[in-house]
Amino acid sequence: MSAPVGKGISEKPSHITAERFYGQGVVVTGAAQGIGMAVAHRIAHEDGNLVLVDRSPLIHEVAKQLQDAGAGTVTSFIADLETFEGATSSLEFATQNLKHLDVVINNVGGTIWAKPYQEYTEEEITKEINRSLFPTLWMCRAALPILINNGGGTIVNVSSIATGGINRVPYAAAKGGVNGIVSALAHEAAPHKVRVVATAPGGTLAPERAVKRGPGPEGEQEEKWYQQIVDQTIDSSLMKRYGTLEEQAAPICFLASEEASYITGSVLPVGGGDQG
Ligand SMILES: NC(=O)c1ccc[n+]([C@@H]2O[C@H](COP(=O)([O-])OP(=O)(O)OC[C@H]3O[C@@H](n4cnc5c(N)ncnc54)[C@H](O)[C@@H]3O)[C@@H](O)[C@H]2O)c1
Repeated sequence: MSAPVGKGISEKPSHITAERFYGQGVVVTGAAQGIGMAVAHRIAHEDGNLVLVDRSPLIHEVAKQLQDAGAGTVTSFIADLETFEGATSSLEFATQNLKHLDVVINNVGGTIWAKPYQEYTEEEITKEINRSLFPTLWMCRAALPILINNGGGTIVNVSSIATGGINRVPYAAAKGGVNGIVSALAHEAAPHKVRVVATAPGGTLAPERAVKRGPGPEGEQEEKWYQQIVDQTIDSSLMKRYGTLEEQAAPICFLASEEASYITGSVLPVGGGDQG
């Protein structure tokens, strides 16, 4: 799918909170590019120990690039998080490579198609739910016993303001499911000192994707449906613009950190005023 193209991340994040993740073990999924990579970039510069998970082998390059950014370690693991086995093996790798697992950031997802709901096939609907709900559902299930056993921790999920948008009902349903995980799991997890939170990004500028989400718009009609999403996203944002990767990474890192210690069960819209 084509999207408005923007800058990638610079060599150093424009803002950092020095040593905020020092000594902490953090897993970031879908970190080979985009928002996940920007989150990993910032946490590496804030001295966190990272395990980066993605199904693209590009993840090893990202880990190599970030290895010397801060005081922490950065390792990478390839897994398909649409499967429970992918989630459990990722966390097994993480517990072996981190002294302590403190934070899990579930970022895998993204609309594959853009069209009115009546145009989706059964197979496409299933693929959208598999892409944008199951990776988070599986990772939360796999991470929870480990965090409980550790005496606490934080899960940050990445939702979307698209729950209130056009031409992507299956994706909106998946992200509505992610919001449901946050509010319901936060209740169960709080007595175990595990926080469960999310951001809901709005439209975000990024360089052209090395890992494509899907086939992309095919033909004039599909281009038009996609353009309607872009127009609606800008229009419903009070700031009338897309955000940047760093503007998405910042609130994710805040929610993941100890600074957000009194926040759980919340989904923070990050869409220039679009509440989703
Ligand atoms: N970019 C936006 O405009 C935007 C807006 C709202 C919400 N979001 C959400 O933010 C998150 C990140 O978006 P993005 O645009 O940076 O994503 P992206 O499509 O650029 O990158 C997603 C990454 O996840 C990986 N991935 C995909 N499926 C996987 C799987 N099954 N197992 C393991 N890895 C897998 C890909 O290889 C890729 O590296 C997503 O959850 C998306 O829904 C993005």
